[in-house]
Amino acid sequence: MGAAAVELRGFRIWKDYLDTSGQAAVVDALRPVLKAAPLFRPVTPRGQAMSVRMTSAGDLGWVTDRKGYRYEPQHPSGVDWPGIPEAVLAIWHGVTGLDRQPDSCLINYYGQDARMSLHQDKDEEDYSWPVVSVSLGDDGLFRIGNTTRGGKTESIWLNSGDVVVMGGEARLTYHGIDRIRFGSSRLLPKGGRINLTMRVAG
Ligand code: SIN
Ligand code: FE2
Repeated sequence: MGAAAVELRGFRIWKDYLDTSGQAAVVDALRPVLKAAPLFRPVTPRGQAMSVRMTSAGDLGWVTDRKGYRYEPQHPSGVDWPGIPEAVLAIWHGVTGLDRQPDSCLINYYGQDARMSLHQDKDEEDYSWPVVSVSLGDDGLFRIGNTTRGGKTESIWLNSGDVVVMGGEARLTYHGIDRIRFGSSRLLPKGGRINLTMRVAG
């Protein structure tokens, strides 16, 4: 576990929070989740297919389709989202110190050409709870903007095992992933990057 977090625009970034075996344990814990609730390619409300594939764990999962961005209690297949694995919840408690558990964990998978444009996480009911992001696998170039659209941005490479806490004044700061360095990590057998974001959604 890394000793301390660095701060960038109000985001607390824990480099190497998980060591190699900790990362492997989380990936193992995610396998049954991905089996029960397979990754799917969501469509934006405007009808554009996203380049990331996603699924969720927890009581609620974030989805998007023609009907809009929202949280739903079930995977598009109609099954309940699986529970959030203990190994993932432990990260939330470790970096936030909160007793309250997240009720949602979005699982994003970035293949070779996937990216995520700048956005705010704002479909949750109460922004006083932080969002905690966990990076696994290939490096991702994380861009951080401002609490309103536009303005100067700063970027940082997130590596496997890094954890970011987006909370406080920075809870509604714009962020995104410009690109990944496909093949930079050996954690995932088929390459690519997994990002988990835990939220208190409802
Ligand atoms: C997200 O904001 O949903 C994902 C961020 C990341 O992939 O690091
Ligand atoms: Fe986000």
